[in-house]
Amino acid sequence: MKNIEQNSTPLFDALKKYIDSNVIPFHVPGHKHGKGIPELTSYVGERMLKMDVNGMKDLDYFNNPTGVIYEAEKLFAHLFSAKKAFFLVNGTTSGIQAMIMSVCKPGDEIILPRNAHTSAVSGIILSGAIPVYVEPEISEELGITNGVTVDKIKEAIESHPNAKAVFLINPTYYGFTSDVKAIVEIAHKYNMFVLVDEAHGAHMNFHEDFPLTAMAQGADMCALSMHKTGGSLTQSSALLIGDSNISSDKVRQVLNLIYTSSASYLLMCSLDIARKQMAIKGRKLLEEVLQMVRWARDEINEIDGVYGFGKDLIGNPGCVDFDETKLGINVRKLGYTGYEMESKLRNEYNIQVELADLNNILAIVSIGDSIENLKALVDSLKDISCKSHIKDYNRINFLPKYSKVVISPREAYYMDKKLVKLSDSEGKIASEMVMAYPPGIPVICIGEVITKEIIDYINILKNEKCELQGTSDPSVNYIKVLL
Ligand SMILES: Cc1ncc(COP(=O)(O)O)c(C=O)c1O
Repeated sequence: MKNIEQNSTPLFDALKKYIDSNVIPFHVPGHKHGKGIPELTSYVGERMLKMDVNGMKDLDYFNNPTGVIYEAEKLFAHLFSAKKAFFLVNGTTSGIQAMIMSVCKPGDEIILPRNAHTSAVSGIILSGAIPVYVEPEISEELGITNGVTVDKIKEAIESHPNAKAVFLINPTYYGFTSDVKAIVEIAHKYNMFVLVDEAHGAHMNFHEDFPLTAMAQGADMCALSMHKTGGSLTQSSALLIGDSNISSDKVRQVLNLIYTSSASYLLMCSLDIARKQMAIKGRKLLEEVLQMVRWARDEINEIDGVYGFGKDLIGNPGCVDFDETKLGINVRKLGYTGYEMESKLRNEYNIQVELADLNNILAIVSIGDSIENLKALVDSLKDISCKSHIKDYNRINFLPKYSKVVISPREAYYMDKKLVKLSDSEGKIASEMVMAYPPGIPVICIGEVITKEIIDYINILKNEKCELQGTSDPSVNYIKVLL
């Protein structure tokens, strides 16, 4: 495919043509180009509502595309060096579920790091696969999980040689990568597929200073959140098939099991436009992002009591490479938790970061940022540092040991359960997850034994006002366990 074709937007063009033709819309959505919901239309503008249509002949059909959606997906696949791309309108979550369901049937084993996103667990429940968890490496000083080592994955592969797939994260929320290429080589020798969660790596294809993408390292499939770092609208993602013998018909079938039959054209058009933008000027935009974030990280590292971590950690276990746009900042020497710093920045400086944990905050820097945004963050941290007493102690530096899976997540999901007080749940088997959100990594997973250490950790997170999700009791005083 010629580069020039990347300059086109087949889906967006078809939608503009439809809007210009002033068709009388006897089709859903029932707001009929915004007329049925005037308050929203007057706020966001008529054109946006006119773009909110449903599948029809000239606009193609999402669940079995042969026209402009097919053309747009083809351009997307080509740009990302994939054999096939599927647009996703339910985020990378649906892509991860589809990847797992495409290669695992009930009872098949899948090897994955225990710090995988909750969508991997839901994919495991839906497919009936049996998880073989590998402990991710830990940065003790920061209190965060990193990637996995090749040795640990190799060990898991050798002791589970019949597993169907290895699942990896590239990069982690904090920006660290594992050696995907080396893992692909080993996994393929054992006829295992390599599936990659690239939710945080959609931009990495477009500048040589970023870690290598899953496709570039020979992975069979990956799912990427174009909406997180590629410029498209929230929920718009893509599922890619690489140079693999995975059947794209099978993947399509699985996607149609879990997909909506009314995909949003706004979301799909945003993928079409963001793909074109990345093709035409992605490198230039990302060079600017890198310049800004490098400046900010250097400035932050001059401030007393804060530490902007990054490439300096490459070489540590589970840190083969690093995505510099993830601006993780350790704030514990200022005497604040990450959660407190997040609130302080929001309430006193009007800055919202992507996430906080017990010791750190994480700012995501992307093609939508300006140097003024970064200056505001740096200045706020300087101000906070000036007003704080520097303390060289670990206020909280505690990551619990993950528990053991004793019943497959799918089996546990369907078994009878009861609600017990969290404080009485030690030794019982969890039948729901508890996760800090973001990052959405389960602290306890369905089918695992609840330990005292996990209960203590959940209590610390609650005390620190961390956003906990997954349980039927929103305050997590109670948890569902197996009978
Ligand atoms: C590591 C990771 N994987 C997958 C997802 C799911 O992506 P999406 O929000 O596009 O569904 C997220 C979301 O934050 C994530 O952090």
